[in-house]
Amino acid sequence: MLGTIQWMTRQQWLLRALGPVFGDFHPLLPRHRDDPHATWRRLRESNPVYRSKIFGAWICTRYDDVLHVLRDKNFTTDRSEVPAMRLFQRYARRDPTFAALIERNLLMIDGAEHRRLRSLVSKAFTPRRVEELRPQLESIVDELFDRVAETDEIEIVRDLAHPLPVIAICELLGIPSEDRDLFGSWSKQLSQLLDPLQGRGGVAPLRRAAHGIFDYFRPLLADRREHPGDDLLSAMLAAEENGERLTEYDLLSLSSLLLVAGHETTSNLIGSAVISLLRHPAERKRLQDDMGLLGTAIDEFLRFESPIQLTDRCAIEDCEIGGKTILKGQMVVAVLQAANRDPEQFPDPDHFDIGRTENQQLAFGQGNHFCLGSQLAKLETEIAIGALLRRFPDFSGATDPPAWRRSMIIRGPEAVPLRLI
Ligand code: HEM
Repeated sequence: MLGTIQWMTRQQWLLRALGPVFGDFHPLLPRHRDDPHATWRRLRESNPVYRSKIFGAWICTRYDDVLHVLRDKNFTTDRSEVPAMRLFQRYARRDPTFAALIERNLLMIDGAEHRRLRSLVSKAFTPRRVEELRPQLESIVDELFDRVAETDEIEIVRDLAHPLPVIAICELLGIPSEDRDLFGSWSKQLSQLLDPLQGRGGVAPLRRAAHGIFDYFRPLLADRREHPGDDLLSAMLAAEENGERLTEYDLLSLSSLLLVAGHETTSNLIGSAVISLLRHPAERKRLQDDMGLLGTAIDEFLRFESPIQLTDRCAIEDCEIGGKTILKGQMVVAVLQAANRDPEQFPDPDHFDIGRTENQQLAFGQGNHFCLGSQLAKLETEIAIGALLRRFPDFSGATDPPAWRRSMIIRGPEAVPLRLI
């Protein structure tokens, strides 16, 4: 069934014919992919809490409403009562490994169980552990640039933004370097989880990757239990709270989630950051003249082209947002990218300003599910963009990528070809 829906999302004639059914929110059209900001602006100005009948969801585009949905306890990530999820559960009972990957991850559970899991992971995934990765990441980025320095050309996504986050997560978990390619290919397959409607091949590639990754981790976990190292996997095994530890399924699911949540997102942030610099030469020069602005520049990259455009929640009770009545059990979509360009929150929101100080951007979400890897993502971007600007100050390239990712959730360029001198 998923395969059929995926096929339908590739039929432009069908999508155009269905235009009236999609109404003001038609995120599957190429027009939206090329410039999602136009859709978000239109909705925010004309109908900021919009009922999309075809998606069966309310689409929130104003900063205050998005923040409310992410923070309010009346909105949960537990989607087990949503019809699409019930359909999936029936299917997943036949494959417990695949079901564990989907249902046992932090982004799908809520309440006490989420607090328990998150606090155990947070004990292991500390800011100190992330900061300790800095020298390794710096030398990895140098190595990646060394490989292309001779040719005077680079394709940023393929040569830097795509490999770097996989290497970073493998380093963090203590995965041997010879297995990185394996992780890269699982991650590519699992990334379809971020937007299954626009993937390819139905459920099969997802199941294959789930089994591949779980089969890889099982013996590795047993080994780390016997011989703990100085890595996140060993730290997660050791983490304990009130006598409780993470179960094997928790550990397998969490390790896979780190890969899924941390790869595509960071890769797209780096790719979009380079596009933003190419489109705004004066801001690029300002950054090159004062690299001390890199910290605020990264928040501006995140605000300007948020790598995760939207997330969703399910209403626990009837409630009201922006004068609209949301019924118990209905889905609410929080459009992070629209919130990040809301003029009520950000003065002159379409102006790219690397020195913007009042920048409470929502690209990493908010509330109980705030991104666990935000610090790692920022560190990788700081090192990658910093090295590009220092090593190749005269790089040049087109201000539009050949294509943007085919996804309504993920935002990032497919490729960013650059001349380095
Ligand atoms: C630019 C890069 C990244 C962006 C834009 C991003 C964005 C997000 C967002 C928006 C959420 C919240 C989703 C929701 O509320 O429904 C989230 C959660 C999460 N992220 Fe990230 N992320 C990034 C990088 C990373 C990295 C590098 C890791 C780990 C290696 C990571 C791990 C996670 C995890 C585990 C969660 C779930 C937290 C929870 O539910 O308690 N992310 N991320």
